[in-house]
Amino acid sequence: MFKLQKKRYYEFRISDMISFHLVIRSCRPNTILVFGVLAGFLLYLVVLDSLGLDPVRRATNDLIYNAHSQEHNLVNDTGSSEIKFGRPAFGRNYLVIFNVIPKTGSRSVNVAVNRHILHSTEKLHFHIIPDDALSNMSKFEDFIEKIPRPAYISGHAMFPDFEKIHPEVIYVNIIRDPVSRVISNYYFDIFGDDMDAAPHAGNTWPVNIEDCLKLTKDPCLDAIKYYQGVTLRQFCGMNERCRNVDRWTLRRAKQNALKYSLIGVTSEMDTTMKALEIILPDLLGGVYADFVQTQNAVRNSTITKNKRKPSAETIQLLREQMKLQYEFYDFIQVYFQDLKRRYRL
Ligand SMILES: *[C@@H]1O[C@H](CO)[C@@H](O)[C@H](O)[C@H]1NC(C)=O
Ligand SMILES: *[C@@H]1O[C@H](CO)[C@@H](O)[C@H](O)[C@H]1NC(C)=O
Ligand SMILES: *[C@@H]1O[C@H](CO)[C@@H](O)[C@H](O)[C@H]1NC(C)=O
Repeated sequence: MFKLQKKRYYEFRISDMISFHLVIRSCRPNTILVFGVLAGFLLYLVVLDSLGLDPVRRATNDLIYNAHSQEHNLVNDTGSSEIKFGRPAFGRNYLVIFNVIPKTGSRSVNVAVNRHILHSTEKLHFHIIPDDALSNMSKFEDFIEKIPRPAYISGHAMFPDFEKIHPEVIYVNIIRDPVSRVISNYYFDIFGDDMDAAPHAGNTWPVNIEDCLKLTKDPCLDAIKYYQGVTLRQFCGMNERCRNVDRWTLRRAKQNALKYSLIGVTSEMDTTMKALEIILPDLLGGVYADFVQTQNAVRNSTITKNKRKPSAETIQLLREQMKLQYEFYDFIQVYFQDLKRRYRL
């Protein structure tokens, strides 16, 4: 987005130069002085912009955001008091929490963020959330107390609700088409990928998800049931009730989703990364370029091995079992597509 916007600035300036030139030829010295001052001011803005400090850009982003939220009556069946989705967070002193849903492309994001950190002179602490904190709120709190800010932490955690006690927390996440995610998770747990070849749970399962779905009782079926619920459970949070996936869980997941600054989608990774820059301009500005540099290598080594294309019937069957998941996916899509329009991504 910044790239696009800068480009627009340039186009704007080049056409302006031409009209400046025409006007200057036909005007008196004090008019030239006025233009000189204007040109100086433009230069000042360009310099500020290159330092990431452009007040106009900030004000514009905020204006676009506010105008848009008012003009579009976004879905609000959640009782949530403040929607953070798509709202830029300026400054650097944040704790970014990325509670990764498995098989959604998170490694592409984390590799890009790490490259960003490597090439940055300002510190951003990257941490993996420890296993024992993933679903234990008090351990999670202990963990984040110890980390200096700014920080970016990542792991398969249940949503940790710090809305009231840690205003510096920024939530980000990525979701994927529910059936594709389940299928990917199944084959990943059997075969892994180049980056993660450790033996996974699935070494005794049918190597074809269709054969598993024909069984009536098998560990592979339990695994599929688990994958089907994982997204809603993670967005629902640490509450005991979140372990059962029902309408209550869905409702809580939607409420929490609006506390995220960004939930991207796997099928639009490129846009997701551009959006990440926009919502954290001072902390992660430029991370899209890091993503472009690293994405092919990451994608090559994180393609789940031996993944088979399932039949239309299998897709239909899984889809019918995952109505709540699709309701959530569609809910997020509304916000994500809206964010894209708002920032012209
Ligand atoms: C959503 O609805 C609730 C309850 O009607 C209301 O209190 C809240 O302000 C609304 N939130 C937004 C962002 O409009
Ligand atoms: C979470 O961890 C604390 C110790 O930090 C422990 O006392 C508590 O029982 C744990 N809670 C759950 C639900 O496991
Ligand atoms: C990724 O794989 C493609 C196709 O196999 C190959 O053309 C490309 O060079 C690979 N890229 C990297 C960075 O490994």
